[in-house]
Amino acid sequence: MQISVIGYGYVGLVTGGCLAEAGHQVLCTDNDPARIATLEAGGLPVYEPHLDAVLAATRHRGHLRFTGDSGEAVRAGQAIFICVGTPSKQDGEADLSAIDNVARVIATEARMPKLVIEKSTVPAQTGQQLKRALQVYGRNKGGSFRVASNPEFLREGRGVEDFLHPHRIIVGVEEESSERQLRDIYHPILERQFQCPVHQPDCPPSERPELLVTTMNSAELIKHASNSFLALKISYANVLADLCDRLGANVEEVTRAMGLDPRIGPQFLRAGLGFGGSCLPKDVQAFIRLAESAGVDFGILKEAERVNKRRIDQFLEKIRRSLWVIRDKQVAVLGLAFKPNTDDIRFAPAIELIGRLLAQGARVRACDPQAIDKTKAIYPQLFYSPDPYETARDADALLITTEWQEFRDLDWQRMRALMTRPLVLDARNLLDPAAMQTLGFEYHSLGRPDT
Ligand code: UDX
Repeated sequence: MQISVIGYGYVGLVTGGCLAEAGHQVLCTDNDPARIATLEAGGLPVYEPHLDAVLAATRHRGHLRFTGDSGEAVRAGQAIFICVGTPSKQDGEADLSAIDNVARVIATEARMPKLVIEKSTVPAQTGQQLKRALQVYGRNKGGSFRVASNPEFLREGRGVEDFLHPHRIIVGVEEESSERQLRDIYHPILERQFQCPVHQPDCPPSERPELLVTTMNSAELIKHASNSFLALKISYANVLADLCDRLGANVEEVTRAMGLDPRIGPQFLRAGLGFGGSCLPKDVQAFIRLAESAGVDFGILKEAERVNKRRIDQFLEKIRRSLWVIRDKQVAVLGLAFKPNTDDIRFAPAIELIGRLLAQGARVRACDPQAIDKTKAIYPQLFYSPDPYETARDADALLITTEWQEFRDLDWQRMRALMTRPLVLDARNLLDPAAMQTLGFEYHSLGRPDT
């Protein structure tokens, strides 16, 4: 099928590349000249494992193309995926201006009937607004539009895998024809009719994903409800960690035991610095605001958000308890991205923590395998190194703020010799307390007995 994708972000590029991988003819467009230039030059505006290989292979096969001409992209696709950003406004509501702009472009450029599919995360009832906007902007232009919701469930760092091997595909439609068209689009993925670029040589047989058909409002709500529930689990685990700290229990043993109950499950119960990233924080805020606008007080979600916001204060208190005076102390920070295997620092706890440490006069040295460039734009004054050993040199304290595997595998004996004081505060429970004690570290983590 001829498919167009509007938006070159994590979602748009993964969607375009994977639909091309699945055999469709895909044309991607964006209104950001810098991103277009980066792609034209063979680069990638975002880091996502396997994405470069997927884009290169599908472009080579002629299944994927990029254009800066949005009109061309609109006219080329029988189906158009909207993959633009919906960031939070000041009051927490989702900013839908990019969706509105795209609706205007589609309505004015289309010459044939189109299926317009919202993949961006949007509050329930946005699809209804989008349909109305297309009609208004396309008046007297002869375009006719059907609208569908097809929310993405892509985790950053695993976007290509999550797209090609989804647990579920959710479509919210108003017409039979839209359902049929979406089933055709996802058929190769449902039937796994492609050579998977992620699992070489062959994908492990994963169970066939379910394609669930519902209304647009329900499909939009499923997305916010899912992400917000994940946020609830994380905040619950973080409060458990605080309780374990006070009671001398071990949060990892508690949550592991809880996860053995299939009704609870082991995922998203890891204590840490809280949930960050471009999705969970904004989706929780948008869901709370959506509920308010519908006259429902989502108190449990407000509490999850409050717990999440306090994580930085609590960890800073742990640092202060160990360092006593933060001013003029040299602090090494291992981890800038909001989670491993991504370069994304949006709502990354480490970024906020660094701001707080600088405000208290600390001298910060920072390290991350992927996110240094993006962080330099915010804190140009820091010392940066991709080498954790160089970062730790002469440190009075070392913080682990993103659980990169590289940091788990470090030679901690060598790290200890480089540091002024063998003090490690592990905000992601990455390391083993007993092993660190044996190496002579003052080691503190979250919800696990201190050495
Ligand atoms: C999330 C959803 O998982 C995905 O389905 C949706 O499409 C987009 O938002 P993502 O934002 O990439 O994906 O990150 P995710 O892997 O979900 O983690 C979100 C945050 O929660 C990260 O900051 C992570 O550090 C934190 N987290 C995750 C925990 O603190 N504890 C956990 O146990 C799991």
